[in-house]
Amino acid sequence: MPIRYNPEAREFHLYNDSFSYIIKVLENGYIGQVYCGAPLNPSRTYPLLSPVPFHGFSNNFRSTPRFEYPLYGNGDYKYPAFAAVFENGSSVIEPEYAAYQISIGKPGIPGLPSTYIEDEEEACTLELELFDAPSGVRLILYYSIFTFFNCLARHVRIINGGKRRITLKNVMSLNLDLPDSDWNLVTLTGAWAREFQATCRPLAPGLQEISSLRGISGHEQNPFLLLKRPGTDEFQGEALGLSLLYSGNFLASAEVDSYDLTRLRMGINPETFSWELAPGEFFDTPEAILAYSAGGINRLSQDYHRLYRTRLARGTWRDKERPILLNNWEATYFDFTEKKLLEMADTAVSLGIELFVLDDGWFGSRDDDTTSLGDWVPHTRKLPGGISSLAKAITGKGLAFGLWIEPEMVSPKSRLFEIHPDWAVGVPNRPRTEERQQYVLDMSRKEIVDHLFSVLSQLISSAPISYIKWDMNRSLTEPWSPSLLPHRQGEFFHRYCLGVYDLYNRLTGAFPHILFESCAGGGGRFDPGLLAFAPQGWLSDDTDALERLTIQAGASLCYPLSALGAHVSAVPNHQTGRQSSLAFRAMTAFFGVLGFEQDPTKLHSDEKKKIAEHIKFYKAHRALFQQGCFSRLLSPAGASYAAWMVSSGDQAVVGFYKLLSRPNPKPVILRLRDLDPAAVYEVSVWEAGGFDPGDREGNCGFRGGDELMRGGLLLNAPGLDHPMTGDFFAELFLLRRQEPRVTGEIA
Ligand code: DGJ
Repeated sequence: MPIRYNPEAREFHLYNDSFSYIIKVLENGYIGQVYCGAPLNPSRTYPLLSPVPFHGFSNNFRSTPRFEYPLYGNGDYKYPAFAAVFENGSSVIEPEYAAYQISIGKPGIPGLPSTYIEDEEEACTLELELFDAPSGVRLILYYSIFTFFNCLARHVRIINGGKRRITLKNVMSLNLDLPDSDWNLVTLTGAWAREFQATCRPLAPGLQEISSLRGISGHEQNPFLLLKRPGTDEFQGEALGLSLLYSGNFLASAEVDSYDLTRLRMGINPETFSWELAPGEFFDTPEAILAYSAGGINRLSQDYHRLYRTRLARGTWRDKERPILLNNWEATYFDFTEKKLLEMADTAVSLGIELFVLDDGWFGSRDDDTTSLGDWVPHTRKLPGGISSLAKAITGKGLAFGLWIEPEMVSPKSRLFEIHPDWAVGVPNRPRTEERQQYVLDMSRKEIVDHLFSVLSQLISSAPISYIKWDMNRSLTEPWSPSLLPHRQGEFFHRYCLGVYDLYNRLTGAFPHILFESCAGGGGRFDPGLLAFAPQGWLSDDTDALERLTIQAGASLCYPLSALGAHVSAVPNHQTGRQSSLAFRAMTAFFGVLGFEQDPTKLHSDEKKKIAEHIKFYKAHRALFQQGCFSRLLSPAGASYAAWMVSSGDQAVVGFYKLLSRPNPKPVILRLRDLDPAAVYEVSVWEAGGFDPGDREGNCGFRGGDELMRGGLLLNAPGLDHPMTGDFFAELFLLRRQEPRVTGEIA
């Protein structure tokens, strides 16, 4: 059982091979945070690591330097993890430790996405019960430690066991008080078409935070942060990650106090939240995943990847190789006919593409983005036979068929809005803000979710559809719902999010064969909450390969390659105007779920030949790219080069990217990862790439795993006759582990 309780010390120790998390019941009845880090001996206790009160301006025996779940109003003075308002208007609450329970396995959270286990041995759960006698409120802190991932899942249940209503104002999923502040904070920031820019800053006294107030997790800040020690890099040093399984307004903060203690908090953003709890009711927070690595950031990412790919994603498509798709968006935008789509599909089949996705513009009278959202009936001028006839024609060609929808939206110019103007989110007697000429449906109302389930079920059942791209192209404004009483309007945003999860849950349950891809104008709602329903997401509307190197590297801090939709698009690129080679574009998109987003009928014959080779190569290595162990070898941010690799026991693929070409370049030593040091690998260059003969001569052959990891590949080596490759040049190295027989011969 990887959780031990020592009754004398009143200490709980949660551990696995690489991680210890220790908390204890303090003399004042609160729970204190003792230790979070590299493993400690679980058979001992750690009184000297326990938090002790400091003597400052005023000393309060009830104040604890490192609270496990800090509360409001008791002399802690940092931002609390929990606040509620009681009937007398007070927010003071002092729940003390009441009981604990340790069990094997891991519970789910009703109505909310969560990680899961398939075998009870995979996790062990501690439930700590805190009780506030005057109000009757109970808090249950849940901790599930995984056996095979260096991750701890946390959430909190608040039970109103009293006789009066209470209003929750702040219910963090996780609080972590650390004993020092010698950390750098890394967050994923950005905007539309430039999501997932990793930014790093040292922690400073006071509050630093990331958040969303948009009703979705947002392009601007992803609900993920990591702390790394100043000397930590990808492959060595301590790092701590926090990730929230939530798709709405969130907050994650780091607060450094006057004694250099650091408080981390993560959960629903209290700014836009309140929730009334009647006697007997309970509220569950979303789940947060804390990950720890003593061996660098890359290791932390690999733990998140494995956990999210295998124990958050679920259903038919979790372990299946994902189809290579062609999406018509950048090829045609709104301007297509059935004939045009079928011509594209014909060429797609000949290239080896497996799934044809019809994007926006197939419904109502939608010829641009001003109309028809909500009217999920075919645009008969473009598609005279409707979706069913198109889907049958496409599947008849040997392609699977997929469809774009944007269920949460309604256009002011639509049948749905004519019939139900009150279904759009807005405040009576005030104008609604249009964004992209559209309004948002009130997903907090069950009748609207019921309507969407019914309409979308009919649509999906009407045709051979095997993939759905669920888009969401605007943030929420004028939050208010007629279904909520005035004093309960603070529940709107969370109820909206629960409505989205409800619809996802019903649709994935009713149509388990469908592969869902989430999207919100690219990565506007790319978060672990949706990964529980849609195992892949459209990462960004920026399809420029150079930009994608940074975006995909940033996203890979937390998200597995199997979740990263990555498309090869036309040049000049539609977002940047940049020209780059087909090989460079393909080799970037390989490190994700490969797709194409350009008109294949417009390709020259040599381009078609190359794309067919690219697709053949990706198919042959698809399991490796989508399920292998991914490492970032060189970061593209502000650098001249980038490099990634994926590996499994027997093979690996290494991608090396030269961003800007320089004369007389300095050599680059690329030390590989995740190989067997005792094995021999045959190293080759992928011939269909625009490979550099110099690198091919200098690096290929039979080479030891130890040599490749410690000596590395030598790229741009001086003395080799280097061709001038130009900007945006990429090459792929393939590694194939040799049978022992061959190893012996080589040795
Ligand atoms: C935004 C998405 O990110 C694009 O891929 C495309 O589906 C458009 N919406 C369609 O409106």
